Amino acid sequence: MTKLVDKFGREISYLRLSVTEHCNFRCFYCRDDELLPNCKREDILSYEDIQRIVRLFAEMGISKVRLTGGEPLLRRGISKIAKLISTIPGITDVPLSTNAQLLEKFANKLHENGVNRANISIDSLIPERFKEITRGGDVTQVIKGIDAAIAAGMHPIKINAVAMQGVNDDEIESLIDFAIEKGIDIRFIEAMPIGEAGIGMQSHHMSEDDIMDRIKQHLPGQLTPLIASKTDGPASNYKINNTNTTVGVISAVSNHFCQTCNRVRLTAKGDLILCLGQEDSISLKDAVRSNLSDKEIKTMIINAINKKPEKHVFNESIDNISNRQMVEIGG
Ligand code: GTP
Ligand code: 5AD
Ligand code: SF4
Repeated sequence: MTKLVDKFGREISYLRLSVTEHCNFRCFYCRDDELLPNCKREDILSYEDIQRIVRLFAEMGISKVRLTGGEPLLRRGISKIAKLISTIPGITDVPLSTNAQLLEKFANKLHENGVNRANISIDSLIPERFKEITRGGDVTQVIKGIDAAIAAGMHPIKINAVAMQGVNDDEIESLIDFAIEKGIDIRFIEAMPIGEAGIGMQSHHMSEDDIMDRIKQHLPGQLTPLIASKTDGPASNYKINNTNTTVGVISAVSNHFCQTCNRVRLTAKGDLILCLGQEDSISLKDAVRSNLSDKEIKTMIINAINKKPEKHVFNESIDNISNRQMVEIGG
Protein backbone atom coordinates (compact mmCIF):
# COMPACT_ATOMS: atom_id res chain seq x y z
CA MET A 1 0.00 0.00 0.00
CA THR A 2 1.27 3.53 -0.83
CA LYS A 3 1.23 5.37 2.49
CA LEU A 4 0.68 9.08 2.67
CA VAL A 5 3.92 10.47 4.05
CA ASP A 6 4.75 14.14 3.58
CA LYS A 7 8.16 15.66 2.94
CA PHE A 8 8.71 16.11 6.70
CA GLY A 9 8.22 12.37 7.27
CA ARG A 10 4.75 12.76 8.82
CA GLU A 11 2.37 9.89 8.08
CA ILE A 12 -1.18 11.04 7.36
CA SER A 13 -3.72 8.66 8.90
CA TYR A 14 -6.55 11.03 9.91
CA LEU A 15 -9.07 12.78 7.62
CA ARG A 16 -11.41 15.45 9.00
CA LEU A 17 -14.42 15.41 6.70
CA SER A 18 -16.78 18.38 6.83
CA VAL A 19 -20.22 17.34 5.57
CA THR A 20 -21.85 20.79 5.68
CA GLU A 21 -20.83 24.43 6.10
CA HIS A 22 -24.08 25.22 7.88
CA CYS A 23 -24.52 25.37 11.61
CA ASN A 24 -27.46 25.92 13.93
CA PHE A 25 -25.15 27.82 16.32
CA ARG A 26 -23.09 30.91 15.60
CA CYS A 27 -20.37 30.66 18.27
CA PHE A 28 -18.71 34.06 18.41
CA TYR A 29 -15.15 32.68 18.25
CA CYS A 30 -15.93 30.55 15.20
CA ARG A 31 -17.92 32.64 12.76
CA ASP A 32 -19.71 35.91 12.15
CA ASP A 33 -23.35 36.59 12.89
CA GLU A 34 -24.53 36.19 9.29
CA LEU A 35 -26.01 32.97 7.97
CA LEU A 36 -23.97 31.50 5.13
CA PRO A 37 -25.77 31.71 1.79
CA ASN A 38 -27.40 28.45 0.71
CA CYS A 39 -25.26 26.71 -1.83
CA LYS A 40 -26.51 24.60 -4.71
CA ARG A 41 -26.75 20.87 -4.07
CA GLU A 42 -24.13 20.17 -6.74
CA ASP A 43 -21.66 22.46 -4.96
CA ILE A 44 -21.23 20.04 -2.08
CA LEU A 45 -19.83 16.54 -2.20
CA SER A 46 -22.49 13.90 -2.88
CA TYR A 47 -22.67 10.53 -1.09
CA GLU A 48 -20.92 8.95 -4.08
CA ASP A 49 -18.17 11.60 -4.11
CA ILE A 50 -17.57 11.12 -0.38
CA GLN A 51 -17.53 7.34 -0.65
CA ARG A 52 -15.01 7.36 -3.50
CA ILE A 53 -12.70 9.94 -1.94
CA VAL A 54 -12.68 8.18 1.45
CA ARG A 55 -12.06 4.81 -0.23
CA LEU A 56 -9.04 6.26 -2.05
CA PHE A 57 -7.70 7.72 1.20
CA ALA A 58 -8.29 4.40 3.00
CA GLU A 59 -6.32 2.61 0.28
CA MET A 60 -3.43 4.94 1.17
CA GLY A 61 -3.49 4.33 4.93
CA ILE A 62 -6.15 6.65 6.35
CA SER A 63 -7.91 4.76 9.18
CA LYS A 64 -9.69 7.57 11.04
CA VAL A 65 -12.38 9.76 9.41
CA ARG A 66 -13.96 12.41 11.61
CA LEU A 67 -17.40 13.73 10.65
CA THR A 68 -17.47 17.45 11.25
CA GLY A 69 -19.07 20.64 9.91
CA GLY A 70 -20.49 23.27 10.45
CA GLU A 71 -22.84 21.08 12.37
CA PRO A 72 -22.71 17.61 10.78
CA LEU A 73 -26.14 16.61 12.07
CA LEU A 74 -27.69 19.26 9.79
CA ARG A 75 -26.59 17.32 6.69
CA ARG A 76 -29.49 15.34 5.31
CA GLY A 77 -28.53 11.65 5.23
CA ILE A 78 -25.79 11.96 7.87
CA SER A 79 -26.51 8.43 9.13
CA LYS A 80 -26.22 7.11 5.59
CA ILE A 81 -22.89 8.94 5.17
CA ALA A 82 -21.68 7.40 8.47
CA LYS A 83 -22.57 3.94 7.20
CA LEU A 84 -20.91 4.49 3.80
CA ILE A 85 -17.68 5.56 5.49
CA SER A 86 -17.56 3.10 8.37
CA THR A 87 -17.97 0.12 6.03
CA ILE A 88 -15.00 1.09 3.81
CA PRO A 89 -12.20 -1.45 4.39
CA GLY A 90 -9.41 0.05 6.50
CA ILE A 91 -11.58 2.67 8.25
CA THR A 92 -11.55 1.72 11.93
CA ASP A 93 -12.47 4.97 13.70
CA VAL A 94 -15.40 7.23 12.73
CA PRO A 95 -15.73 9.93 15.39
CA LEU A 96 -18.20 12.81 15.27
CA SER A 97 -17.54 16.46 16.25
CA THR A 98 -20.89 18.05 17.09
CA ASN A 99 -22.51 20.82 19.09
CA ALA A 100 -25.01 18.14 20.23
CA GLN A 101 -28.08 20.37 19.91
CA LEU A 102 -29.69 17.64 17.77
CA LEU A 103 -27.78 14.66 19.14
CA GLU A 104 -30.58 13.33 21.35
CA LYS A 105 -32.48 12.41 18.19
CA PHE A 106 -29.52 11.03 16.20
CA ALA A 107 -27.23 9.28 18.74
CA ASN A 108 -28.63 5.74 18.47
CA LYS A 109 -28.88 5.65 14.70
CA LEU A 110 -25.40 7.10 14.25
CA HIS A 111 -23.91 4.59 16.64
CA GLU A 112 -25.66 1.74 14.82
CA ASN A 113 -24.21 3.11 11.57
CA GLY A 114 -20.62 3.05 12.78
CA VAL A 115 -20.02 6.32 14.65
CA ASN A 116 -18.12 4.86 17.58
CA ARG A 117 -17.45 8.06 19.52
CA ALA A 118 -18.17 11.80 19.77
CA ASN A 119 -16.50 15.09 20.66
CA ILE A 120 -19.04 17.61 21.87
CA SER A 121 -18.51 21.38 22.21
CA ILE A 122 -19.77 22.91 25.43
CA ASP A 123 -18.16 26.14 26.55
CA SER A 124 -20.43 26.95 29.48
CA LEU A 125 -22.92 25.23 31.78
CA ILE A 126 -24.69 28.51 32.55
CA PRO A 127 -27.74 28.68 30.25
CA GLU A 128 -27.69 32.46 29.58
CA ARG A 129 -23.94 32.49 29.00
CA PHE A 130 -24.14 29.44 26.72
CA LYS A 131 -26.85 31.18 24.73
CA GLU A 132 -24.68 34.29 24.37
CA ILE A 133 -21.54 32.42 23.28
CA THR A 134 -23.42 30.30 20.73
CA ARG A 135 -25.82 33.12 19.77
CA GLY A 136 -28.91 31.05 20.50
CA GLY A 137 -27.95 27.55 21.74
CA ASP A 138 -29.75 25.70 24.52
CA VAL A 139 -27.35 24.03 26.97
CA THR A 140 -30.10 21.80 28.42
CA GLN A 141 -30.60 20.25 24.99
CA VAL A 142 -26.83 19.78 24.60
CA ILE A 143 -26.68 17.92 27.93
CA LYS A 144 -29.54 15.70 26.76
CA GLY A 145 -27.48 15.04 23.64
CA ILE A 146 -24.47 14.05 25.77
CA ASP A 147 -26.65 11.68 27.82
CA ALA A 148 -28.07 10.16 24.64
CA ALA A 149 -24.57 9.57 23.24
CA ILE A 150 -23.54 7.85 26.49
CA ALA A 151 -26.72 5.73 26.46
CA ALA A 152 -26.17 4.81 22.80
CA GLY A 153 -22.77 3.35 23.74
CA MET A 154 -20.50 5.88 22.05
CA HIS A 155 -17.10 5.76 23.73
CA PRO A 156 -15.08 7.74 24.56
CA ILE A 157 -17.12 10.93 24.68
CA LYS A 158 -15.06 14.10 24.94
CA ILE A 159 -16.23 17.58 25.83
CA ASN A 160 -14.44 20.43 24.02
CA ALA A 161 -14.43 23.85 25.68
CA VAL A 162 -12.64 26.83 24.13
CA ALA A 163 -11.07 28.53 27.18
CA MET A 164 -11.53 32.30 27.05
CA GLN A 165 -10.33 34.80 29.66
CA GLY A 166 -13.22 36.94 30.88
CA VAL A 167 -15.77 34.78 29.04
CA ASN A 168 -15.78 31.30 30.61
CA ASP A 169 -12.45 30.97 32.48
CA ASP A 170 -14.39 30.91 35.75
CA GLU A 171 -15.98 27.63 34.61
CA ILE A 172 -12.82 25.56 34.10
CA GLU A 173 -13.38 23.84 37.45
CA SER A 174 -17.14 23.30 37.04
CA LEU A 175 -16.72 21.91 33.51
CA ILE A 176 -14.14 19.41 34.83
CA ASP A 177 -16.51 18.40 37.65
CA PHE A 178 -19.32 17.98 35.11
CA ALA A 179 -17.13 15.65 33.02
CA ILE A 180 -16.17 13.61 36.10
CA GLU A 181 -19.84 13.32 37.12
CA LYS A 182 -20.78 12.05 33.64
CA GLY A 183 -17.71 9.77 33.42
CA ILE A 184 -16.55 11.38 30.15
CA ASP A 185 -13.40 13.19 28.99
CA ILE A 186 -12.76 16.92 28.68
CA ARG A 187 -10.32 19.07 26.70
CA PHE A 188 -9.80 22.81 26.89
CA ILE A 189 -8.85 24.47 23.60
CA GLU A 190 -6.79 27.61 23.06
CA ALA A 191 -8.77 30.03 20.86
CA MET A 192 -7.24 30.18 17.39
CA PRO A 193 -7.09 33.33 15.20
CA ILE A 194 -8.98 31.83 12.26
CA GLY A 195 -11.33 34.10 10.31
CA GLU A 196 -12.44 37.48 11.64
CA ALA A 197 -14.29 35.81 14.55
CA GLY A 198 -11.23 33.90 15.76
CA ILE A 199 -8.93 36.89 15.26
CA GLY A 200 -11.32 38.92 17.42
CA MET A 201 -10.84 36.44 20.30
CA GLN A 202 -7.17 37.17 20.81
CA SER A 203 -7.87 39.62 23.65
CA HIS A 204 -9.48 36.68 25.53
CA HIS A 205 -6.67 34.26 24.71
CA MET A 206 -5.60 31.81 27.42
CA SER A 207 -2.39 29.89 26.82
CA GLU A 208 -1.84 26.21 27.53
CA ASP A 209 0.18 27.20 30.64
CA ASP A 210 -2.62 29.44 31.97
CA ILE A 211 -5.14 26.64 31.50
CA MET A 212 -2.88 23.91 32.95
CA ASP A 213 -2.18 26.02 36.06
CA ARG A 214 -5.90 26.20 36.73
CA ILE A 215 -6.41 22.48 36.14
CA LYS A 216 -3.53 21.57 38.47
CA GLN A 217 -4.84 23.87 41.20
CA HIS A 218 -8.22 22.20 40.96
CA LEU A 219 -6.82 18.65 40.93
CA PRO A 220 -3.58 18.77 42.97
CA GLY A 221 -1.55 15.55 42.71
CA GLN A 222 -4.38 13.81 40.84
CA LEU A 223 -3.09 13.91 37.25
CA THR A 224 -1.22 11.12 35.45
CA PRO A 225 0.10 12.08 31.96
CA LEU A 226 -1.06 9.88 29.06
CA ILE A 227 1.00 9.00 25.99
CA ALA A 228 -0.58 9.78 22.58
CA SER A 229 -1.01 7.10 19.91
CA LYS A 230 -0.38 7.46 16.15
CA THR A 231 -3.87 8.54 15.08
CA ASP A 232 -4.61 10.79 18.07
CA GLY A 233 -5.72 14.41 17.72
CA PRO A 234 -3.64 17.27 19.08
CA ALA A 235 -4.52 17.25 22.80
CA SER A 236 -2.07 16.56 25.68
CA ASN A 237 -4.12 14.45 28.07
CA TYR A 238 -3.98 13.43 31.73
CA LYS A 239 -5.91 10.74 33.56
CA ILE A 240 -7.68 12.14 36.63
CA ASN A 241 -6.80 9.53 39.25
CA ASN A 242 -9.69 7.49 40.67
CA THR A 243 -12.16 8.72 38.03
CA ASN A 244 -13.23 7.61 34.53
CA THR A 245 -12.23 11.00 33.15
CA THR A 246 -9.23 12.38 31.31
CA VAL A 247 -8.54 16.10 31.06
CA GLY A 248 -6.50 17.67 28.30
CA VAL A 249 -5.40 20.89 26.70
CA ILE A 250 -5.25 21.53 22.97
CA SER A 251 -2.53 24.13 22.71
CA ALA A 252 -3.58 25.04 19.22
CA VAL A 253 -1.57 28.27 19.17
CA SER A 254 1.26 28.26 21.72
CA ASN A 255 2.61 24.76 21.22
CA HIS A 256 3.75 23.31 17.92
CA PHE A 257 2.25 19.83 17.76
CA CYS A 258 2.69 20.43 14.02
CA GLN A 259 5.79 18.17 14.09
CA THR A 260 3.52 15.19 14.68
CA CYS A 261 0.58 16.39 12.55
CA ASN A 262 -1.17 13.34 11.10
CA ARG A 263 -4.23 14.95 9.49
CA VAL A 264 -5.72 16.72 6.48
CA ARG A 265 -9.17 18.25 6.02
CA LEU A 266 -11.81 17.97 3.34
CA THR A 267 -14.45 20.71 3.18
CA ALA A 268 -18.09 20.11 2.28
CA LYS A 269 -17.30 21.68 -1.10
CA GLY A 270 -14.53 19.17 -1.69
CA ASP A 271 -11.42 21.28 -1.03
CA LEU A 272 -8.58 19.29 0.50
CA ILE A 273 -6.98 21.62 3.07
CA LEU A 274 -3.45 20.66 3.98
CA CYS A 275 -3.07 22.67 7.20
CA LEU A 276 -5.64 24.34 9.46
CA GLY A 277 -3.46 27.42 9.82
CA GLN A 278 -2.60 27.91 6.13
CA GLU A 279 -4.63 28.50 3.00
CA ASP A 280 -3.26 25.85 0.60
CA SER A 281 -5.88 23.51 -0.84
CA ILE A 282 -6.77 21.51 -3.97
CA SER A 283 -10.25 20.62 -5.26
CA LEU A 284 -11.00 16.91 -5.00
CA LYS A 285 -14.59 17.61 -6.06
CA ASP A 286 -13.36 18.67 -9.49
CA ALA A 287 -11.11 15.62 -9.57
CA VAL A 288 -13.83 13.04 -8.83
CA ARG A 289 -16.24 14.73 -11.24
CA SER A 290 -13.78 14.69 -14.11
CA ASN A 291 -12.88 11.48 -15.88
CA LEU A 292 -9.70 10.93 -13.89
CA SER A 293 -8.98 7.34 -12.85
CA ASP A 294 -8.55 6.27 -9.20
CA LYS A 295 -4.82 6.07 -9.84
CA GLU A 296 -4.67 9.63 -11.20
CA ILE A 297 -6.64 11.01 -8.26
CA LYS A 298 -4.37 9.18 -5.82
CA THR A 299 -1.37 10.78 -7.53
CA MET A 300 -3.03 14.20 -7.11
CA ILE A 301 -3.53 13.49 -3.39
CA ILE A 302 0.07 12.29 -2.96
CA ASN A 303 1.35 15.46 -4.70
CA ALA A 304 -0.84 17.65 -2.48
CA ILE A 305 0.35 15.90 0.69
CA ASN A 306 3.91 16.55 -0.47
CA LYS A 307 3.12 20.26 -0.28
CA LYS A 308 1.67 20.06 3.25
CA PRO A 309 3.19 23.02 5.12
CA GLU A 310 5.58 22.34 7.98
CA LYS A 311 3.55 24.30 10.55
CA HIS A 312 0.91 26.91 11.16
CA VAL A 313 1.99 30.52 11.37
CA PHE A 314 -0.59 31.80 13.86
CA ASN A 315 2.13 33.51 15.87
CA GLU A 316 3.83 35.20 12.92
CA SER A 317 1.03 36.31 10.63
CA ILE A 318 -2.71 36.30 10.65
CA ASP A 319 -3.23 37.60 7.14
CA ASN A 320 -3.25 34.18 5.53
CA ILE A 321 -6.00 32.72 7.68
CA SER A 322 -8.54 35.52 7.60
CA ASN A 323 -10.24 34.39 4.39
CA ARG A 324 -12.02 31.30 5.66
CA GLN A 325 -14.18 30.99 8.76
CA MET A 326 -13.71 28.04 11.11
CA VAL A 327 -17.29 26.95 10.43
CA GLU A 328 -16.33 26.38 6.77
CA ILE A 329 -13.14 24.45 7.60
CA GLY A 330 -14.62 22.05 10.15
CA GLY A 331 -12.32 22.75 13.09
P1 GTP B 1 -9.59 13.24 18.84
O1 GTP B 1 -9.46 12.29 17.72
O2 GTP B 1 -10.72 12.84 19.72
O3 GTP B 1 -8.33 13.52 19.59
O4 GTP B 1 -10.12 14.60 18.17
P2 GTP B 1 -9.56 15.98 17.75
O5 GTP B 1 -9.08 16.71 18.94
O6 GTP B 1 -8.62 15.79 16.60
O7 GTP B 1 -10.91 16.66 17.14
P3 GTP B 1 -11.90 17.81 17.56
O8 GTP B 1 -12.86 17.97 16.41
O9 GTP B 1 -12.51 17.55 18.87
O10 GTP B 1 -10.97 19.08 17.62
C1 GTP B 1 -10.61 19.71 18.81
C2 GTP B 1 -9.89 21.01 18.53
O11 GTP B 1 -8.59 20.76 18.04
C3 GTP B 1 -10.58 21.91 17.52
O12 GTP B 1 -10.58 23.24 17.98
C4 GTP B 1 -9.72 21.76 16.33
O13 GTP B 1 -9.78 22.90 15.51
C5 GTP B 1 -8.35 21.60 16.95
N1 GTP B 1 -7.44 20.96 16.02
C6 GTP B 1 -7.60 19.75 15.40
N2 GTP B 1 -6.57 19.52 14.56
C7 GTP B 1 -5.75 20.63 14.64
C8 GTP B 1 -4.53 21.02 13.98
O14 GTP B 1 -4.01 20.31 13.12
N3 GTP B 1 -4.00 22.20 14.32
C9 GTP B 1 -4.57 23.01 15.23
N4 GTP B 1 -3.95 24.17 15.52
N5 GTP B 1 -5.71 22.70 15.86
C10 GTP B 1 -6.30 21.53 15.57
N1 5AD C 1 -10.41 28.42 18.17
C1 5AD C 1 -10.40 27.20 18.78
N2 5AD C 1 -11.34 26.25 18.61
C2 5AD C 1 -12.37 26.57 17.81
N3 5AD C 1 -13.46 25.85 17.46
C3 5AD C 1 -14.20 26.60 16.60
N4 5AD C 1 -13.60 27.82 16.40
C4 5AD C 1 -12.46 27.82 17.14
C5 5AD C 1 -11.41 28.76 17.35
N5 5AD C 1 -11.40 29.96 16.74
C6 5AD C 1 -13.71 24.50 17.98
C7 5AD C 1 -15.14 24.25 18.41
C8 5AD C 1 -15.25 22.74 18.36
C9 5AD C 1 -14.08 22.32 17.47
C10 5AD C 1 -14.46 21.42 16.33
O1 5AD C 1 -13.50 23.52 16.98
O2 5AD C 1 -15.37 24.69 19.71
O3 5AD C 1 -15.09 22.15 19.62
FE1 SF4 D 1 -21.19 25.82 14.93
FE2 SF4 D 1 -19.16 24.46 16.08
FE3 SF4 D 1 -18.71 26.83 14.91
FE4 SF4 D 1 -20.13 26.74 17.17
S1 SF4 D 1 -17.96 26.11 16.93
S2 SF4 D 1 -20.68 27.92 15.30
S3 SF4 D 1 -21.22 24.87 17.00
S4 SF4 D 1 -19.34 24.99 13.87
